[in-house]
Amino acid sequence: MATSTTPADHPPMIRVENLAKEFSDLKRGPVFALDHVSFDVRAGEIYGLLGPNGAGKTTCLRILSTVLKPTHGRALVAGYDVVAHPEHVRANIGFMSNNTGIYDRMTAWELVEYYGRLYGLEESVLQDRLEQIFSTLQMNEFRDMLGSKMSTGMKQKVSIARTIVHDPPVLIFDEPTSGLDVLVARAVLQTIESLKGQGKCIIFSTHIMREVEKLCDRVAIIHKGRILASGTLEELADRYNEPDVEELFFELIRRHDEQSLAEAEA
Ligand SMILES: Nc1ncnc2c1ncn2[C@@H]1O[C@H](COP(=O)(O)OP(=O)(O)OP(=O)(O)O)[C@@H](O)[C@H]1O
Ligand SMILES: [Mg+2]
Repeated sequence: MATSTTPADHPPMIRVENLAKEFSDLKRGPVFALDHVSFDVRAGEIYGLLGPNGAGKTTCLRILSTVLKPTHGRALVAGYDVVAHPEHVRANIGFMSNNTGIYDRMTAWELVEYYGRLYGLEESVLQDRLEQIFSTLQMNEFRDMLGSKMSTGMKQKVSIARTIVHDPPVLIFDEPTSGLDVLVARAVLQTIESLKGQGKCIIFSTHIMREVEKLCDRVAIIHKGRILASGTLEELADRYNEPDVEELFFELIRRHDEQSLAEAEA
C-alpha cells in the first residue's frame, strides 16, 4: 500500500541559520536589511515571507539565490552552502526576482528556450519541456509574441516559465503576483500550488495576507529585518489568540515598533 508523505517527512531543502545582511548606506549609515533570521523549508512545502516594504524579503531571497552574500550566518540550499558552493546552489534553484527580465526582441518561446539551453537541457528534452510548460501556464496564445509587445501578465508568465524550465527542486519567488490583475494573479498562485504538488520546495515573498492564507503551509512575518513570528497560520492564531492574519500582522508590527521606540528612548 502506498503511504502518503507529509512535508515533515522530508529533509529541509532550505536551511537558514542566523542569517544577517548589513548594507552600508552613504546617507542612512548601516542598514540591517536582515537581522539574524533562521528558518527552514522542506520539499513539498510552501513557505511565505510576509512583510511590509523594506522588511528584508528581497534581501533574504537574493542571498538564497546567491546574488548577494550574507554578512553573518549561513544558508544551505539543497544541501549546499550559498557562499561556499554558489554554482551547486544555482543548479538547484529557480529564482523569480521582481524584475521579470524579458528581452524585447525575443518571443516568449525563444526566451524560455534560451534559458533552457543556458541550463544545458538537451534539445529533445527541452522541446518537450517547453510544450508542457506553455500548455500548463496557458502561454500558447502568445508563444510567438515579442517581449516588447507583451502585457505585464504575459511577461510574468514567461518569467515563471523561465524560472522552472530546468525543473529545479527549489523555487524562489519574489512577489510573483505584483502588478497582476486578479485573474492572472490567481493563475500564478495556482501554478505555484501545482509545483508544490510536484514536491518542490517553495519560498515566496508577499505583502498580501490573502496569498499567505491561500497558499502557504508556514509563514514568517518579517519586519525591519527580523522574523516577528513564524509557524502555520493555525499555530500563530493559537499562540497570539488572533485568528485574523491581517490583525495579527498589524498587531505584531505595532508591538515591535513600540518596543523599538521604548528601547531607543531608554
Ligand atoms: N543595496 C542596498 N544598499 C543599501 N540598502 C539596501 C540595499 N538593498 C536593500 N537595502 C535596504 O534593506 C532594507 C530591506 O530591503 P528589501 O528590498 O530586502 O525589502 P523588501 O522586504 O523586499 O521590501 P519590498 O516589499 O519593498 O520589496 C531596506 O531598508 C532597503 O532600503
Ligand atoms: Mg522586495
